[in-house]
Order: sequence, then structure tokens, then C-alpha cells
Amino acid sequence: MLIDVKDITKIYKMGEVEVHALRGINLGIKEGEYIAITGPSGSGKSTLMHILGCLDTPTSGTYLFRAKKVHDLSEDELANIRNREVGFVFQTFNLLPRLKAYENVELPLLYAGGRAAKIRDRALKVLHRVGLGDRVNHRPTELSGGERQRVAVARALVNNPRVILADEPTGNLDTKTGGEIMELFGSLHREGRTLIVVTHDPEVSDYADHIVRIRDGILTN
Ligand SMILES: Nc1ncnc2c1ncn2[C@@H]1O[C@H](COP(=O)(O)OP(=O)(O)O)[C@@H](O)[C@H]1O
Ligand SMILES: [Mg+2]
Repeated sequence: MLIDVKDITKIYKMGEVEVHALRGINLGIKEGEYIAITGPSGSGKSTLMHILGCLDTPTSGTYLFRAKKVHDLSEDELANIRNREVGFVFQTFNLLPRLKAYENVELPLLYAGGRAAKIRDRALKVLHRVGLGDRVNHRPTELSGGERQRVAVARALVNNPRVILADEPTGNLDTKTGGEIMELFGSLHREGRTLIVVTHDPEVSDYADHIVRIRDGILTN
């Protein structure tokens, strides 16, 4: 198993009030699998994605990433997973508005360090890969929604991660553009990457190996 989640809970404490966002999730994902996660708003999808991407920690339960307990990892090891093993794509793209497309894509590589020319080359190559070879100098405001999301996918891919996590990546796109992004994810899967995609898009079942349904913080299938 690449990802092995055992009885994970997440409780958010809001003053006196506790929100039980995840109430015992068990999930195994093998290398190269394509998993779609669906469920109503507020069911815990984003909370689960943040834990899978090591952006947040569960309240209880065990998360094994490549057979290592995430709980026991050092800050450096966690940063390494976030930077090199996992690429995250968000519904709202999360691009920096003042940076050109290629500069947005370079960011994760700049954090990791390395030669500037090599970093530039890699960013341009990945932008080409997602079909934006002729838009590399555009800023986010000069791009369509679908193009912005392609830049975000390129940024997620730039470190060549084995896992892509996408939280409602087509939620802000029209059906046709969303379909193109889903095609792009399909091609990443065919390259052998592991994909975990939160989506309400019924067409996703054409692409995904498994659909995981979540409701009130519990998997229902
Ligand atoms: N940072 C937070 N603090 C407190 N409550 C939160 C926080 N994030 C999410 N929640 C609550 O946890 C539940 C699950 O949220 P979320 O994982 O975002 O669901 P989804 O992505 O399926 O819409 C919701 O009730 C939400 O209000
Ligand atoms: Mg969400």
C-alpha cells in the first residue's frame, strides 16, 4: 500500500464546540491507483485530503505513507513528502497573481533548491506537458479558468510527485473545461501516477478505478 489510513478521526475544536469532521476512516490506496472521492458539502472531503497530503494531522488513528507512520516523521521528513512526493491541486487554483505562469510553476522547485537555469527548464517543460507552452509568460489574470487550473496542475507536477491530490479541481470550471482537466488527470494516471481526486463530476467514474463515498465523516461504501 502506498497510502494506508486506519481509523482516522479529526475533531476541530471551536471554543466550546467540537466538530467531528472525520469519524473513523479506513482507506488503502495502492501505487498507481486512481481514486475519486465524492460526498456532500461538509462531509469531510477536504479534511481527509489535507491529512492525506500531510498538510494536517488526524486527531486519532494511524496514517501510513509508504509504510511509514506519518505521526512519527520529523518536520524535515514531512516537508520532504509535501515537496517531493505529493502534488496538491485546489478548487480555487491558489496561484500567486503577480507571478507569470512559469514563475508560479517554479515555486516548489525554488523551495527545494537547485540551479536557476535547470529550474526554468523544468517549469517550461511541465507547462508544455499540460498544453500551455504558448502561455508561459502570462499572469493568472491573463489566463482563462481552465488555463489557470492547468498552471496549478503543472505546479503540482513540477517535482515529479508519485501522488497527485486534487480537491474539487473542476469546481470553478464550466463542464467542457472541467472535462479537459479530467482528461489531463486521466493521462497522468496512464503515466503511472497515483491520483486522488475529490469531485462531484459524474463523468469521473469513466476515469477512476474506484469511487469512495463519504458522508458525515464516514465512508459509506
Ligand atoms: N478549520 C476548521 N475549523 C473548524 N471546523 C472545520 C474546519 N475545516 C472544516 N471544518 C468543518 O468540518 C466539517 C468537514 O469540512 P470539510 O472537510 O471542509 O468538508 P467538505 O470538503 O466535504 O465540504 C464541516 O462541518 C466543516 O464546517
Ligand atoms: Mg471541501
